[in-house]
Amino acid sequence: MFNAKITGTGSYLPEKVVTNKDFESILETTDEWIYSRTGIKQRHVIDEKESVSSMAEIASNNALEAAGLDASEIDLIIVATSSSDRVFPSTACILQNRLGANGGAAFDVQAACSGFIYALGIATQFIKAGGAKKALVVGSEANSRILDYSDRSSCVIFGDGAGAVVVEASEEPGILSTHMNADGQYQDLLYVNNPIKDQKQEGDQAFMTMHGNDVYKVAVKTLSRVVDETLEANNMDKSDVDWLIPHQANIRIISSVAKKLNMPMEKVVLTIENQANTSAASVPLALDQAVRDGRIKKGEIVLMEAFGGGFVWGSALVKM
Ligand code: COA
Repeated sequence: MFNAKITGTGSYLPEKVVTNKDFESILETTDEWIYSRTGIKQRHVIDEKESVSSMAEIASNNALEAAGLDASEIDLIIVATSSSDRVFPSTACILQNRLGANGGAAFDVQAACSGFIYALGIATQFIKAGGAKKALVVGSEANSRILDYSDRSSCVIFGDGAGAVVVEASEEPGILSTHMNADGQYQDLLYVNNPIKDQKQEGDQAFMTMHGNDVYKVAVKTLSRVVDETLEANNMDKSDVDWLIPHQANIRIISSVAKKLNMPMEKVVLTIENQANTSAASVPLALDQAVRDGRIKKGEIVLMEAFGGGFVWGSALVKM
């Protein structure tokens, strides 16, 4: 049995930035309201020429370069997204072609904001079982294309972007454990309808609906439990964790999970202020930022966790 190790990280954020102040002119909202309730100041938004696969391509190339690999060496591509370019083929297939990595397995995972954790878990199992040797795991989202910009309670929270990691078979320990859970009884609290229903295009129904307050309560309760379960599965103590990389949904949710871990906020990687919630891209975007700026070092223990529509949640404990 092999270990699975993260050997390279990469990310991409679109150039265009929309600030809270920008929303003040189109919605009944204020910078103060958004920042105090969520911790968000601004978000990146794709332009007409960009797509989920174009962002994924740039993030993937950065991760491949960091791992010192050529795209042709990749034998598994998993893209986590809830805003894919097409209903099918998968964004992973489109990405595979863009990278020139054709031939290996390529598929998408749809687990909303927990998508990257799910994709990382699946890639880990593939590698441990010998089904793949070099995998590309990507979270890429164009949330701006599924938002209702007249709904002030949801549209201010999300942003666009992509993050990627290369995961390779290794003798050394790397991804120590991954945990995936879901509870479909909450499906109506956070969802986007499929615009193609009964063969008819029902475009205006393809926007996000979110019952923010209910989502908030379940997220805090669930994520606090996830942290304990993950550490217990690895016989580790809270003090063994060097870095927490939470899904960047709301600074208040993040703070309460950090408190539960007795983790000072300096040890929590935060991107929410400048990037908002980029769904499946938020964890790999934060990971790449903290690796590239030198905060996360080789050998350190990183706990990643996420929660999203479904509800779906999960975590990964990783030795870098
Ligand atoms: N600007 C100003 N007022 C706003 C607003 C905005 N952008 N959005 C909502 N409001 C208003 C509401 O209309 C409501 O007004 P009312 O009392 O007159 O009806 C009031 O603020 C309170 O709304 P509520 O939804 O109870 O606010 P909240 O404190 O729960 O904060 C969220 C709203 C969305 C910030 C918060 O619930 C949240 O972050 N939830 C989690 C969402 C999340 O993480 N989703 C992704 C999961 S992956």
